[in-house]
Amino acid sequence: MVIEKICCLGAGYVGGPTCSVIALKCPDIRVTVCDMSVERINQWNSEKLPIYEPGLDEVVQKCRGKNLFFSTDIAKGIREADLIFISVNTPTKLYGNGKGRAADLKYIEGAARMIAELATSNKIVVEKSTVPVKAAEIIMKILRANTKPGVEYQILSNPEFLAEGSAIVDLLEADRVLIGGEDTAEGHEAVKKLCWVYEHWIDTKNILTTNTWSSELSKLAANAFLAQRISSINSLSAVCEATGADVSEVARAVGKDSRIGPKFLEASIGFGGSCFQKDILNLIYLCECLNLPEVAAYWQQVIDLNDYQKTRFTRKVIESLFNTITDKKIAILGFSFKKNTGDTRESPAIHVAKTLLEEGAKLHIYDPKVEHDQIFFELTHPSITSEPELFRKNIQIHNTAYSAIAGTHAIVLCTEWDEFKELDYKKIYDVMMKPAYIFDGRKILDHDSLVNMGFHVQTIGKRL
Ligand code: NAD
Ligand code: UGA
Repeated sequence: MVIEKICCLGAGYVGGPTCSVIALKCPDIRVTVCDMSVERINQWNSEKLPIYEPGLDEVVQKCRGKNLFFSTDIAKGIREADLIFISVNTPTKLYGNGKGRAADLKYIEGAARMIAELATSNKIVVEKSTVPVKAAEIIMKILRANTKPGVEYQILSNPEFLAEGSAIVDLLEADRVLIGGEDTAEGHEAVKKLCWVYEHWIDTKNILTTNTWSSELSKLAANAFLAQRISSINSLSAVCEATGADVSEVARAVGKDSRIGPKFLEASIGFGGSCFQKDILNLIYLCECLNLPEVAAYWQQVIDLNDYQKTRFTRKVIESLFNTITDKKIAILGFSFKKNTGDTRESPAIHVAKTLLEEGAKLHIYDPKVEHDQIFFELTHPSITSEPELFRKNIQIHNTAYSAIAGTHAIVLCTEWDEFKELDYKKIYDVMMKPAYIFDGRKILDHDSLVNMGFHVQTIGKRL
């Protein structure tokens, strides 16, 4: 039965943490995480890992060099492994058929072709990346069309449900592990082998097995449901602001219904992250291809509402500042798409900052974990502006919240980092231009006390 060697193609936010936890929990398995990026692998082998994730450093330190390895030697990794995870990126396609909606499967295809070329013994190939339904068929076709004598493949779907910022806990205490395989004797055998890996630490009742297509669709469905909850509560936040109701109270009352539940009902400036939008677009494209336009339109609304929420919040900032922010200094607190991560992919802060820069504001940005270069990269990228130099001139990045805020007209809080709750706002009020504004896009501050200090405060889903 046993799997002795695992190789993972893709040392990103999923491949790195997932394989580190497998290595931690399965000392009998040798795990090698491979990537084409020399820089990324060097970082995984250094003291400063390429991603910030609470608890990750400790896990890597315990296992690296023992049964966990990070390497650019993809050929060796593939040849030696009994089981190969494909954990490469599957971004939204930026060109051609399905542009802006379909998932770009070029990295998945590239990984499959590498395996086909290099494998010299039987392999279980596991699709861990998030993919459209039937993507496993592509991997299957490539592998089986290039099979060498004596080499057999089984392809499994094993989507990942971890969230950034809580990846290690999510992996250690997964609500469920989902494994899909072919409905054949060999398929069942391969599913059993992957189950055995997870059974090292996950209760068998939480390991769900199903067919490949249900597994692939379940991943898209889970992300679509989660994002839909956020858009639902955000839609109601607009109603609250217009009526005097408080969205936190509404969420509390609604979430008390055990059929609905309290989680994922935090109104915000909109969801970000590399996956929600990408995966819903992917689902929409799938529905369109299946000639299901009503279903596609239903899910499109989740994205439209998210865009509306980001725009609505930014418009409120501009209007409150007398509709003119040219040359006004504005502090942006938080740039990552959520707290406890340095990831900026699809961060709502990008939309807010871009719009304020277009209006001529001078931005002073602080985030505890995002690298300065990354902020410049996001805000001067050709997809954001045709005037990168002008934007660059109007952006200053700071190492503390206090230095970012000094002398500004307004604070725009975009990420819910805990440290923003602990700042000394009395001290901050004194060093700001007056009237001093705070726009709390995450509803984390004590608004009544800020108003008492003299601030003009605006937040999401509550009229102050
Ligand atoms: P990422 O961009 O951080 O990492 C992907 C890595 O794959 C990159 O380092 C890239 O260089 C590497 N790569 C590409 N082709 C390769 C190849 N042929 N061989 C070796 N390496 C190769 O992406 P990610 O955030 O880890 O996401 C990976 C997949 O997991 C995506 O499909 C995503 O939707 C899904 N997912 C992500 C999360 C998350 O929280 N980020 C959670 C669940 C699922
Ligand atoms: C999400 C899912 O939660 C994971 O289960 C999934 O594996 C992952 O996508 C993926 O497929 O990539 P992630 O994007 O890392 O994880 O983070 P979330 O905690 O889901 O937050 C996403 C966005 O929604 C953030 O911008 C967050 O601030 C926002 N959010 C979340 C809200 O605005 N309100 C909420 O109540 C919850």
